[in-house]
Amino acid sequence: MALKITVIGTGYLGATHAAAMAELGFEVLGLDVVPEKIDKLRRGEVPMYEPGLEELLRRHVAGIEGSTGRLRFTMDWAELGEFGDVHFVCVNTPQRHGEYACDMSYVDSAIASLAPHLKGPALVVGKSTVPVGSADRLAAYLAEHAPAGADAELAWNPEFLREGFAVQDTLRPDRIVVGVRSERSEKLLREVYATPVEEGSPFVVTDFPTAELVKTSANSFLATKISFINAMAELCEATGGDVAKLAEAIGYDDRIGRKFLRAGIGFGGGCLPKDIRAFMARAGELGADQALTFLREIDSINMRQRGRMVELTRQELGGGPFLGKRVAVLGATFKPDSDDVRDSPALNVAGQIHLQGGQVTVYDPKGMDNARSLFPTLGYADSALEAVRGAHVVLHLTEWREFRELDPAKLGEVAAERVVLDGRNALDAEAWRRAGWRFRAMGRPGA
Ligand code: UDX
Repeated sequence: MALKITVIGTGYLGATHAAAMAELGFEVLGLDVVPEKIDKLRRGEVPMYEPGLEELLRRHVAGIEGSTGRLRFTMDWAELGEFGDVHFVCVNTPQRHGEYACDMSYVDSAIASLAPHLKGPALVVGKSTVPVGSADRLAAYLAEHAPAGADAELAWNPEFLREGFAVQDTLRPDRIVVGVRSERSEKLLREVYATPVEEGSPFVVTDFPTAELVKTSANSFLATKISFINAMAELCEATGGDVAKLAEAIGYDDRIGRKFLRAGIGFGGGCLPKDIRAFMARAGELGADQALTFLREIDSINMRQRGRMVELTRQELGGGPFLGKRVAVLGATFKPDSDDVRDSPALNVAGQIHLQGGQVTVYDPKGMDNARSLFPTLGYADSALEAVRGAHVVLHLTEWREFRELDPAKLGEVAAERVVLDGRNALDAEAWRRAGWRFRAMGRPGA
């Protein structure tokens, strides 16, 4: 009999995971505590923009014409407990208000709600990003509170999906990491992931703390790479060097690699910033804070880039206050191919200039609604061209393909001044210069 799978929490991670499990051939039941989310998913609608996810979902959600019917949703914990052999916990672990540590309340309440309904053998698999040591604590909780006792086991299986590539990363992960305590758990997880493993995804079996640490250390490494290149960008600016060339040249060394060395206004989003902070907080609790003090520097280099972009803009506008200056901002999301504006460097820069009196007009291909609700006082335009109309300076802050394909000559006709600042080192500087623009990018010689 094929395994039956449940997915608790249907946000980014959970909705994608549930659809992917159905795609792999399992019967899947998803649960969320927010009725609107469940209603939407039942209609085959995805609550956020993620390429390919809606199609995947619609292929499997029961009740949708032509679907396999393998994916259903509920709000009933008893039904969930009854249904599943393997329960994936995919709820979020945001940064706690006013603290670095992460908020475990959603994970804790998911486990507490599930436990009384685990009456027979079951495997609960944590996917959320949690402080190291959580799996150990949650396993003990389950053993004590589930009627199945020790037969209600726990495993930890961190998720590495990137927004914008969530479907691909879930169906064909770079690696599958499972922290387990028994052969039975390992066997079940090998069964769940048989297809991607056959297709070549490495399967790494670890203990609990290692599995938890793999996730936070991977994110810390990625954050470090970005802040490293941004620190080099600062040096390039001080010396007249070109950080894009520098990144290319050091990237030819396989040990360094080209990826994640794009200098600019830095990282944001719902993961990297909060994960490195939660990691530092946890290291402090464990008495190992010295090991991670370097992450403070990574965080501050990152946050500094937003301020540097604001200052670069000020310089280009003549050095005075922003009052009366019209600033076009291309991009609001924290990265392209996403509608996510959480801790977005682009919106942060737009907001700072606005709060200093600049007249900011933002355009983003997918993030307008989220940006408007987070920052209603900014100006918004329906297209890049409209945002640029009348602007004294244009800021390129999220590297959407649409922006690389803009015609600088056309934009030049509507801008008040032809000055563009590339905060993502992604535009074709020569093309803009040929069209008469003064082009500046972070860490690169101006002109
Ligand atoms: C990240 C991790 O990549 C993923 O494995 C983990 O599961 C969740 O966190 P995500 O938040 O989707 O994924 O974004 P990512 O693609 O890592 O980009 C993070 C930020 O770094 C973005 O704001 C991006 O613009 C920025 N970035 C990325 C750079 O500034 N320079 C780069 O070279 C690469």
